[in-house]
Amino acid sequence: MADLGAAPVPADDPLAGRRVLVGVTGGIAAYKAAILVRLLQHAGAQADVILTRGGARFVGAATFEGLTGRAVRQEVWEDIAGESHVALGRRADTVVVYPATAHTLAKLAGGLADDLLSTTLLAATCPLVLAPAMHTEMWEHPATQHNVALLRERGASIVGPDDGPLMAGDAGPGRLVEPEVALDAVRAALVSGSPRLPDDVPAPVGAGPARRRDLLGTRVLITAGGTREPIDPVRYLGNRSSGRMGFALAAAARDRGAEVTLIAGPSELTTPDGVLRYDVTTALEMHTAVLEHLAAADVVIKAAAVADFRPVAPASSKLKKDQGVPTIELTPNPDILAELGAARSGSDPLLVGFAAETDEVEAGGRAKLQRKGADLLVVNDVSGDDAGFEVDTNRVVILDRAGGRVEVPLADKRTVAERVLDRVVAWRAAGPTGPVADAAGTLTEPR
Ligand code: CTP
Repeated sequence: MADLGAAPVPADDPLAGRRVLVGVTGGIAAYKAAILVRLLQHAGAQADVILTRGGARFVGAATFEGLTGRAVRQEVWEDIAGESHVALGRRADTVVVYPATAHTLAKLAGGLADDLLSTTLLAATCPLVLAPAMHTEMWEHPATQHNVALLRERGASIVGPDDGPLMAGDAGPGRLVEPEVALDAVRAALVSGSPRLPDDVPAPVGAGPARRRDLLGTRVLITAGGTREPIDPVRYLGNRSSGRMGFALAAAARDRGAEVTLIAGPSELTTPDGVLRYDVTTALEMHTAVLEHLAAADVVIKAAAVADFRPVAPASSKLKKDQGVPTIELTPNPDILAELGAARSGSDPLLVGFAAETDEVEAGGRAKLQRKGADLLVVNDVSGDDAGFEVDTNRVVILDRAGGRVEVPLADKRTVAERVLDRVVAWRAAGPTGPVADAAGTLTEPR
């Protein structure tokens, strides 16, 4: 938790001197908004608060008035002449709704304006940050997911939710992100200014590259990380995969407009905002999770390093040294990618595999592409220490079913992810046979 005592205002903080409007809606986590307000002030921003009726049932206006030294707005009817709903939105440099309930997201997606916060949100043209918080079932409901996708498409920045403890002893995705995370999202929205820009408008100078939305409406299922196969309650067979490549793909696909589901082996990495994440441990669990989500996927990217074998009979209690050296009998795990390749009908979904190779890298990759029935295979040479496992960079060759190859020289994993998605977009645009290679092996790029 941040130190909330008096702190010097850092003049170079992008929040310094900016006005941030904080909408607080009705969720148990509304109390955290008081901390966010404090953090905003410490960063030099002026925070104003709009409290909805639901929000006020969880935390009192007096708390925010004490923190900000200004009146907290609650009703449209409080200040008709001053047109609060327009004035507050116009004056703000950024609006953050923290927490944002499913109902608030639905109202905003539908353009409804029946209270001060929703009217203000409709009138505001500045960057908008939304921090959803609700029970897992509500978050995962297609209506909420649709609303979130729509809001993101319109340029809102969605932060969270986290996966963790919820109200009444429940746990799962739906937990409000911590105030520090929301603060970072507000800062990022202010700096880029891009969240409210339409997609075809280039971002302002200094705001980074304009976002491509060439995966808009595409449902992308990504696996990431390694699996762990239990030997006994404390030991497992695993591999060095960190999940970074898969998480980079998830964030990149999300930014290009895709609805992303991420099935992750054990990983310390933070879920990219707006990505629906399911955690698994073993290859069998990953197999089940992939099959469960397969029907709703247009593209499957298997970046996970799945353990090929598992102990036949994991010990139920810890193996002790004095019992002698154990012999661990292994059995093969299902090859998920090969199974998908064999079972799909026609060319759907588009299948992208990864291959970590150390010898005869490309020839091995080509054989694997064939064997697994994938459309694209991203081959990386993991024999060096600047590419592959546990590092932020990668160097790959993207092979495809039509015989083409695209080399991606050493680059950070986000850049590699973008190049892989370029191939996905090209392949989908070209239809079932994929892009055609000419005599020189150059692929025609339909974009
Ligand atoms: N894969 C999978 N299920 C497995 C093993 C691998 O879905 N049980 C997928 C990986 O997610 C990756 C691709 O297959 O997309 C290739 O993984 P890799 O480990 O390189 O290939 P293997 O089939 O394990 O071949 P080998 O280890 O013999 O090189």
